[in-house]
Amino acid sequence: MPYLPSHHDPVVASEKATHTHSTSSDTASNAGTFAYAANSAFQRSIYQKCEPYLPDLEGLKTITIVDYGCGPGQNWTYGLDLLLLRADEDVQYQIILNDGLKTDWNEVAQVVHGYRVGQRGHQHGHFAVLPGTFYDQIMPDQTVDVGTAWSSFHWLEKTPPPMDIPPDENYYTAWQAHIRSQGLTDLTKLLRLRAREIKPGGHLLVVIPTTPASSVKVYWEAFQQASLSCLTDGTITPEQWRAFRAPFFQPTEDDLRQILATVQDLWHLPMPWSYPTLAHPAWTALQGSEKTQQDYEEYVDGIAGFFMALIRDVLVRALRGGEVTSAERPAPNEEAILQQATTSFREAILSDGLRNKRPESCWLVMRLVREHGAKMSEAKANL
Ligand SMILES: C[S@@+](CC[C@H](N)C(=O)[O-])C[C@H]1O[C@@H](n2cnc3c(N)ncnc32)[C@H](O)[C@@H]1O
Repeated sequence: MPYLPSHHDPVVASEKATHTHSTSSDTASNAGTFAYAANSAFQRSIYQKCEPYLPDLEGLKTITIVDYGCGPGQNWTYGLDLLLLRADEDVQYQIILNDGLKTDWNEVAQVVHGYRVGQRGHQHGHFAVLPGTFYDQIMPDQTVDVGTAWSSFHWLEKTPPPMDIPPDENYYTAWQAHIRSQGLTDLTKLLRLRAREIKPGGHLLVVIPTTPASSVKVYWEAFQQASLSCLTDGTITPEQWRAFRAPFFQPTEDDLRQILATVQDLWHLPMPWSYPTLAHPAWTALQGSEKTQQDYEEYVDGIAGFFMALIRDVLVRALRGGEVTSAERPAPNEEAILQQATTSFREAILSDGLRNKRPESCWLVMRLVREHGAKMSEAKANL
């Protein structure tokens, strides 16, 4: 059994966000109170469920891994540790960290540095960063042994067009129906692109949030309440309300079947996917507490931190009428609106209707194996 190559504790600690003033300098990145890196313990707790899906890498002398959408923060290191446990002790590996241009690459570099310093054992790592969209081919043909998409392939290629629904309609359900066709196209495209890059017999691990039939969407219910309250009290205009467009596709199992049927010449599933449903760690901590006011405050810090880190950029865009602008830093008046939205979100989470509902999400975990027989021309078709 190889050494764990770093000393990151695989037990997920609950991360605390505060609801004080943000110092964000780049909303697409990692600075500020609702920084993704400081609020992504939930994602990491899901990755713990992925162990049965990891490929066997024994016998390989060198491995090339690409982490598609690595994000700022530590989560990719946890995924890498899991993979390296499946590899030989003396393996040489390279990991290519990909994310969009606006990610905080300084932060990524710091995490790389910390990881290398913490390395033990004989496994020898080489690190590279690769800024750019994963909706392009970003690696040469058939050069990758393992691709990982930890909570990233649900991001659509482009922000979808607005939908026209009344503010009281269930936003989440209406929005997922609205973007379904683009979501199917985009996820299929990602699998075709990765089929070019990943070697025959190589692996693609995909872990993304999905649309469960039964799960309680506490975050979205709270967000809907919060945005309605901001609309009613004039914090945001009806145009800004309508401009909120989350570019996240959360496929149902039927959607997945459809996508996988389209790419069946390129990929197969060595084992069935799973659909674990998990509660946010802050909820688990609350259940183990005495449920004092302070405990609820800490709980709502965790939930608001997580959710606002996910949607902050989308909110800023909505405040600007949905336009993506080069100056992403929120202006002081926008910052004040974000604070108001956060306050309303926190109130909604603690409201009688929601405070005792389990905030959970359902995740797809699947490993795809690149078919041996598939020709590159098939992988390149229909893109
Ligand atoms: C929810 S975060 C997950 C980050 C990290 N993998 C983790 O598990 O914590 C999603 C990441 O995907 C990245 N992303 C979204 N669309 C992308 C694209 N088209 N190309 C590259 N990265 C993208 C985002 O910038 C973000 O860092």
